[in-house]
Amino acid sequence: MTTRIVINTDITRGTINKNIYGHFAEHLGRCIYEGIWVGEDSPIPNTEGFRNDVLEALKKVNIPALRWPGGCFADEYHWKDGVGPKETRKRMVNTHWGGLVENNHFGTHEFMRLCELLDCEPYICGNVGSGTVQEMQEWIEYMTFDGESPMADWRRRNGREKPWKLKYFGVGNENWGCGGSMRPEYYADVYRQFQTYVRNFGENKVYKIAGGANDFNYNWTEVLMREAGRHMHGLSLHYYTVPGVWQKKGSATDFEVHEWFTTIRKAQAMNELVTKHATIMDKYDPEKRVGMIVDEWGTWFDPEPGTNPGFLYQQNTLRDALVAGVTLNIFNNHCDRVQMANIAQTVNVLQAMILTEGGAMVTTPTYHVFDLFQGHQDAELLDVRVLESEPYTYEGATLPQISVSASKGTDGRTRITLCNVDHEAEASVRLELRGAETDAGTGSDVAGRIVTAERMNAHNTFAEPAAVQAVEFTGAELRNGAVIAVLPPMSVVLLTLG
Ligand code: AHR
Repeated sequence: MTTRIVINTDITRGTINKNIYGHFAEHLGRCIYEGIWVGEDSPIPNTEGFRNDVLEALKKVNIPALRWPGGCFADEYHWKDGVGPKETRKRMVNTHWGGLVENNHFGTHEFMRLCELLDCEPYICGNVGSGTVQEMQEWIEYMTFDGESPMADWRRRNGREKPWKLKYFGVGNENWGCGGSMRPEYYADVYRQFQTYVRNFGENKVYKIAGGANDFNYNWTEVLMREAGRHMHGLSLHYYTVPGVWQKKGSATDFEVHEWFTTIRKAQAMNELVTKHATIMDKYDPEKRVGMIVDEWGTWFDPEPGTNPGFLYQQNTLRDALVAGVTLNIFNNHCDRVQMANIAQTVNVLQAMILTEGGAMVTTPTYHVFDLFQGHQDAELLDVRVLESEPYTYEGATLPQISVSASKGTDGRTRITLCNVDHEAEASVRLELRGAETDAGTGSDVAGRIVTAERMNAHNTFAEPAAVQAVEFTGAELRNGAVIAVLPPMSVVLLTLG
């Protein structure tokens, strides 16, 4: 059966916040140290200590926002240890992630400089679990106050005259777990207290993000919205796609068809999660003032054999590319509520965009999906209806075979992103473009790009860095106001009209 999809090119459903394409970088394993920061004296080519290859790769996908310093690390991080001359910075133990000594060489100044070099929004997560209200208050003052004050003066002595602009600030992370093992009622009160001292200095207006629920914990969202909704601008949500169980998640590269199917099923569950958490938010905030901030998402597999299990290093295959495509389409389609999302994590950790080994760097299949989707950033979401579709069936269970979203870009062009999640069947698709006759953005031409491979565990290695990448797709044509396409199995496709 041909999947029939209608795209109403003249009906828009809101703006896709570019920050949906955001990233997350924690002091975990080789994400910050080695993955991003190598220091000025490193033989690895760098700009002020930041790897040039990684900077360049992230700029190419237009990284809009970066969350830091955690994760679980955030609730053990004391920012004052990470400013001032590097040689005098306090060393600490990163108890959560492998017990390594953290030398604090990458701190506030380095992070804010990184965001300047990447031209992206910094999103800082503060310490609630083991920090104090005063510590959080002073961090905001240090970063954003322009006048004379102990913290602003200290910042100047540390080499930064002007305050930074900081919009996104998280008041704790996973406070139901590593961020303090709190009950939602308790955290709601603690959140209210801490956020009171997250001040707006001068022109700087902080968008305060409350620590949100883990996956299906709807009660957390209910309590937070009820007790503290009016004190927040955003509420976070974390969800990881784990094919197995936490004790045995499954290999990143060595997996069978049933694990492919389960992974896709669990990735598609993001739609249910976002819908149900959003419904609770709607009850307390029908105007949708509070953004849903999915600040940790992605696949979580067993660590690569032979690597430190506390480093969460995993390879990234075509399966990850499909998870990314499916998830980003879901976020686009919920852009009325989802205002930011941050894939976990940017380099060398979990569903990484980039892997490094010494001076070598490789981009992952996930990276190439972010590349395909970047035209959706700040675009207007188009109304899309799937009228008829073929299910993806495996051993008696079924899933939707096709995932889709469409937008009208800031350049006026229409972009459609599609995933065929089926591991063996191609998908024949007919996309009817209604309202297109009068619309310059659809034009008379369709261009395509695709991420796919023959094997479901195809991945890029340092020896073979281009096994999976985005290439031209010629399997679509525009005929009588409709795009007719045949999508190969296991593919993520971008169609650009006009
Ligand atoms: O991304 C890895 C960890 O997963 C984060 O530190 C934590 O917030 C989550 O549990």
